[in-house]
Amino acid sequence: MNYNVDEKGYYGEFGGAFIPEMLYPNVENLRQQYLKIMAEPSFKKEFDQLLKDYVGRPSPLYFAKRLSEKYNTKVYLKREDLNHTGAHKVNNTIGQILMAKRLGKSRIIAETGAGQHGVATATVCALMGMECIVYMGEIDIARQAPNVARMKMLGAEVRPAKSGSRTLKDATNEAIRDWINNPVDTHYIIGSAIGPHPYPDMVTRFQSIISEEIKWQLKEKEGRENPDYVVACIGGGSNAAGTFYHFLHEKEVGIIAVEAAGLGVDSGESAATSVLGKMGIIHGCKTLLMQTTDGQITEPYSISAGLDYPGVGPMHAHLYKTGRAEFIAVTDDEAMQAGMVLSKLEGIIPAIESSHAFAILETRKFQPEEVVVFNLSGRGDKDLDTYIKYFKL
Ligand SMILES: Cc1ncc(COP(=O)(O)O)c(C=O)c1O
Repeated sequence: MNYNVDEKGYYGEFGGAFIPEMLYPNVENLRQQYLKIMAEPSFKKEFDQLLKDYVGRPSPLYFAKRLSEKYNTKVYLKREDLNHTGAHKVNNTIGQILMAKRLGKSRIIAETGAGQHGVATATVCALMGMECIVYMGEIDIARQAPNVARMKMLGAEVRPAKSGSRTLKDATNEAIRDWINNPVDTHYIIGSAIGPHPYPDMVTRFQSIISEEIKWQLKEKEGRENPDYVVACIGGGSNAAGTFYHFLHEKEVGIIAVEAAGLGVDSGESAATSVLGKMGIIHGCKTLLMQTTDGQITEPYSISAGLDYPGVGPMHAHLYKTGRAEFIAVTDDEAMQAGMVLSKLEGIIPAIESSHAFAILETRKFQPEEVVVFNLSGRGDKDLDTYIKYFKL
């Protein structure tokens, strides 16, 4: 079984490029160029250098002693929260800004939910002196205010998406509309492992630095490269794709993907896409998608802005369908409690997205000698307001 993208841009039956004709030249040019550009020694050198000196990689692989004691298993945290800008998103934006430069583009657009991808995009645009426009749902603008301020300080223009649920899906629609109107000078930096081929594969490759590092770091700490499990939360699926990438074909490594159940999988207020989704097309790719019987997209819900997306990247749809990955849905309440546990036991306040991953420790039992690596995708600073309200701090 192949879990990587095939030459036609598919992961099994999922993926492809379903785009308006106006965008075809852009996406086709990217498809033809991306692997060649990524393989150029000068590209690799610049990418590696920026990851090291600007982002601060490698991010530590930290043995969480007190968490391990509480749950009676060996818990490691991959500290993407320590990256510059506070999440894994910057790995991808560094890669894509270098790609955009080599494609001769001067204007950057992006969508954002939690604001982490928007901040990471505004950051690399400031670094490279490029114009930056970030689309963000009105609701997300309200619940992620610190990140909106950061984007503005970094010189980006934040444009509100006012349609639909006024969250990530709607911001993505606006960004695609912009790209259709500005196809020549603009590169669209998609922030997750979604979108038309080659985006899911390109984003996954930029994020795969996470699992590349886990391998050698675990070898140093445990004497073996492969953990028993890797665990990550899934919005569109970029931090998970990067965490899983180098383990996809290592049969002894269990893969666990954690989705947002919101108020409960069957509550009608959820973002548990794999369980609730059916095959459909969203934002340029064929994947599992929450929809009504006549194919209208269902509005997703999660307390976490980065996870309330009605679809999941095509790679993850394939991992779900083939049974390669175990999918677990975690409610708002379970995630919030897990965020508190991590804060109290390890002195690390996680992003609410990442808290979802840790919540499985309450229900999914692991053996005492098993090594379980959690991707700590981001830090909780941006979510302080939500934590304050929830816990009445
Ligand atoms: C900290 C953090 N983790 C996870 C996610 C979810 O995105 P993805 O599934 O692409 O990793 C986000 C999205 O904004 C995020 O900010």
